[in-house]
Amino acid sequence: MHVFVTGASGWIGSATVNELLAAGHHVIAIARSDASAAALANKGVHVVRGDLDDLGSILAGAEAADAVIHLANKHDFSNPAVSNAAERGAVQTIGEALAGTNRPFLLASGVAALAQGRPGTENDPSPFHGPESPRGGSENLALEFVGQGVHSVSVRFAPTVHGTGDHGFIARLVAIACEKGISGYPGDGTNRWAAVHRSDAARLVRLGLEQAPAGARLHAVAEEGIPTRDIAAAIGRAFNLPVASIAPEDVPGHFGWIGSFLSMDLAATSTATQALLSWTPVGPTLIEDLAAGAYSVTATPA
Ligand SMILES: NC(=O)c1ccc[n+]([C@@H]2O[C@H](COP(=O)([O-])OP(=O)(O)OC[C@H]3O[C@@H](n4cnc5c(N)ncnc54)[C@H](OP(=O)(O)O)[C@@H]3O)[C@@H](O)[C@H]2O)c1
Repeated sequence: MHVFVTGASGWIGSATVNELLAAGHHVIAIARSDASAAALANKGVHVVRGDLDDLGSILAGAEAADAVIHLANKHDFSNPAVSNAAERGAVQTIGEALAGTNRPFLLASGVAALAQGRPGTENDPSPFHGPESPRGGSENLALEFVGQGVHSVSVRFAPTVHGTGDHGFIARLVAIACEKGISGYPGDGTNRWAAVHRSDAARLVRLGLEQAPAGARLHAVAEEGIPTRDIAAAIGRAFNLPVASIAPEDVPGHFGWIGSFLSMDLAATSTATQALLSWTPVGPTLIEDLAAGAYSVTATPA
């Protein structure tokens, strides 16, 4: 297939591109910088310059391809309305471009707020509807396009897609721990985060592209839920830092914007996804990655 990928230069996107190329697909990607364009071109990707703020570039890419994988995100966590608006605009544009074609459209999503008191499952619909909601309600928007002849598939990534070189949430927690001299967890630290290794996540995206039915919600989840106190303990061991509870009222001040994510219970299963796609996660666990030094050089400044 000729697959149009947004976010192809990102953490998940670059691994996904490698998966797609190795499986014989052709990749067309937008890039917004010379560095990203060069890195993608060196892999054999057909690069067009584009940006989430230039919906014409998204439209042209989607119209010309056999399938779309949308992974780009502005990730402006201090001002999520900006990221959410861009996300919704991109999904609306891709959906309209693919309407009536039955072409695959995979988009990134998450596992937040799927269920109360139990891990979220693929059967749990996203509670986020409309432009004001998290991620701009993009998952439901994309899945609504199934009724207009789009083969939409949501890929819900665990809150940590970990591995060597990750600059995401765990890298941020490492940076905060190193800056504060303490590896903290919120409250009693029993709330849990699901996790998946980047290589397993990328393989799932490729399998989802090739095999998932329209309307599917896939869970890129290898570990159902790791208590945040265990994550903090693993960071403490890896960076030789003391580990301590941070009182709920002190979480925003201690952790900044990531405090609200760290306080959520983000547990999820992937039983249905594994059965549907014969996908078995095989990568290292988050704790193994931390112990192996995967975060020693990539922590983003706190
Ligand atoms: N990583 C995780 O643990 C995780 C967990 C849950 C959900 N997700 C979701 O999965 C998707 C991929 O995440 P990721 O970790 O791979 O993100 P990432 O490493 O931050 O990469 C983001 C990608 O989006 C591109 N991008 C950013 N702003 C853009 C803009 N204005 N126009 C065009 N492209 C732009 C970046 O391009 P440049 O190369 O130019 O910067 C990069 O390719 C996102 O939707 C994310 O929210 C990720």
